Amino acid sequence: MKRLAAEKACEYIEDEMILGLGTGSTVDYALRKIGKMVNEGLKIKGIPTSFRTKKIAKEEKIPLTSLEENPEIDLTIDGADEVDSELRLIKGGGGALTREKMIAYYSKKVIIVIDETKVVKMLGIDFSLPVEVVKFGWTSTKEKLKEFNCNVELRKIMNNPYITDNSNYILDCEFDRIKDPVKLEIDINSIPGVVENGLFIGLADEIIVGSKQGIKTLG
Ligand code: 5RP
Repeated sequence: MKRLAAEKACEYIEDEMILGLGTGSTVDYALRKIGKMVNEGLKIKGIPTSFRTKKIAKEEKIPLTSLEENPEIDLTIDGADEVDSELRLIKGGGGALTREKMIAYYSKKVIIVIDETKVVKMLGIDFSLPVEVVKFGWTSTKEKLKEFNCNVELRKIMNNPYITDNSNYILDCEFDRIKDPVKLEIDINSIPGVVENGLFIGLADEIIVGSKQGIKTLG
């Protein structure tokens, strides 16, 4: 289902495009496909949103550039952890939310590729909201986040704090459901010490959903 969606999104790629390359297991399928397309003569340059994506893109010999060199991105293909009917997203399961949000923000078109399990009635139902925070004073930031009525956990990997590509921590905020994602995105980002949160509002243009029945498009 993930591959179906990812490969469908690659049909939108045109010669000479600057591409935003998202992060995650779904996007990996798109990277493999783009690698093949490049091998067959497609001329594009990609901007990776994570070290992981950069590594795969290099393996696939996808030419890379940076936001500094190419501040306008034609198309971004990225995954998501949850998507609602208004194309609002929770992202950051792979910890790359800050770079992903920047790349989406500077893109003319953003296509999100998911399998059908990611479509939800309300954001926050199945997935915790990741918040990237600076290490300095992170326990105070954690206490402040709890005021939004959520359980907050420091993300860990093998018993050590998970460190983002920007050398920060991630605090995963478990909500019952997120009633007002628009307000919450702004409120969380106004806490000093928060770098970015995983709510993506008004950034996705199209969602490609891979399902057992085939492909569906939202947006
Ligand atoms: C990374 C992300 C990913 O796009 C999201 O976690 C989906 O990942 P996957 O395709 O592996 O399910 O936001 O920060």
